[in-house]
Amino acid sequence: MKMRLLSRKATCNTHGQDSSYFLGWQEYEKNPYDEVLNPKGIIQMGLAENQLSFDFLESWLAKNPDVAAFKRDGKSIFPELALFQDYHGLPAFKKALVDFMAEIRGNKVTFDPNHIVLTAGATSANETLMFCLAEPGEAFLLPTPYYPGFDRDLKWRPGVEIVPIQCTSSNNFQITEAALQQAYQEAEKRNLRVKGVLVTNPSNPLGTTMSRNELNLLIDFISDKDMHLISDEIYSGTVFSSPGFVSVMEILNENNSLKDQVWDRVHVVYSLSKDLGLPGFRVGAIYSNNDTVIDAARKMSSFGVVSSQTQYLLSAMLSDKKFTRNYITQNQKRLKRRQRMLISGLQKAGISCLESNAGLFCWVDMRHLLQSNTFEAEMELWKKIVYDVRLNISPGSSCHCTEPGWFRVCFANMSEQTLELAMKRLKAFVVELTANGCSQSRTEFSSWNSKRKSLPKWVFRLSSRDREQEEP
Ligand SMILES: Cc1ncc(COP(=O)(O)O)c(C=O)c1O
Repeated sequence: MKMRLLSRKATCNTHGQDSSYFLGWQEYEKNPYDEVLNPKGIIQMGLAENQLSFDFLESWLAKNPDVAAFKRDGKSIFPELALFQDYHGLPAFKKALVDFMAEIRGNKVTFDPNHIVLTAGATSANETLMFCLAEPGEAFLLPTPYYPGFDRDLKWRPGVEIVPIQCTSSNNFQITEAALQQAYQEAEKRNLRVKGVLVTNPSNPLGTTMSRNELNLLIDFISDKDMHLISDEIYSGTVFSSPGFVSVMEILNENNSLKDQVWDRVHVVYSLSKDLGLPGFRVGAIYSNNDTVIDAARKMSSFGVVSSQTQYLLSAMLSDKKFTRNYITQNQKRLKRRQRMLISGLQKAGISCLESNAGLFCWVDMRHLLQSNTFEAEMELWKKIVYDVRLNISPGSSCHCTEPGWFRVCFANMSEQTLELAMKRLKAFVVELTANGCSQSRTEFSSWNSKRKSLPKWVFRLSSRDREQEEP
């Protein structure tokens, strides 16, 4: 089809699909590990899924068979659920969801169900907020490293520009006043009007929670510069170690003068994709104290409503306080155990990671395994890990990290046995690599050169793009 018959949106490449983050998933799909059917396949460690607590959800469903059968008090409510629902959402579900969000925050904050908009996941929530807060060509500042999906969510359809707030390992990737000011000046240099800052707390990919200090810094900054703050708190229920989770809403509640200034410019994004492990259900939300934003976002949510049967099922589940309390605690315990397993497996391979207390992944330091301190070397190492070690992990460059050699490694989307195998493979690889002085080895992991010819074109495109980026 001739290109000019299609829209610019359909043919532009700002979707970000050619990032190594998504391309690693494609490689995994071609050769997925299976204990029995494909024991030499690629183990997926690039997907932030929480599969650790399905048994709790399934046992709740078994104890409450009426809910999944669309019955209330033994009577069918099928027609009620099947008929048209408007975009306001079921009141019972909105109430159950805000109460669940409060519970995750230790009930230190409460949320008003009238200030919540339901969306098809956090993806839709973030995009909808962009449509509400910015014109195409305006900018948001995002601390690096950041979740690669934001390139798609902010840039593709809303046309918003992302200006990175450069965070580094020197202070464990924390946001500083200097980094904020530098990003703002960079936007000014590029003639971009900055409409806000978007953070993820807890962070994807770092697996860390924000300190009160950072949150106060952010609030002062948006207050001073007259802009918005979006806090994507999709991982808020995964915090398994101290320090505990502090929501930006808690900081606002504690400081009345700040609250007056920025109350209607702070917006929280949430979703059940991570805390309940239900990305397939597509349940997300925007919480805001800004009536105009809520009103506009609610109208826009027509494009991605949450189905009424999903809302019905989850309103029953989340209203069961005994269940939610137990689920939150047990899920966090399991995540903690997994994180420990990953850390100890990495340690055995001589690899360390950023100290973390949340999330479904660790931010792993493989700088010592690079042949040079470049993104090209990071890509070379990543290709070996995907094709030879057969682990799909996400290179830091796909998260816009400014230092080569960091990787995000997920731990909650597989069994303990698979995680153990992954660590065994990694250890064998590192032993061999270091025995060869970090050079191309000739034995088990040496298939890289022979495979090179059959590699997809994007691998080479990525390498040459990195080269271009390094040139002054
Ligand atoms: C920080 C962050 N925001 C949003 C999303 C998208 O979540 P959802 O499945 O709810 O659309 C993800 C998923 O990985 C994420 O990590």
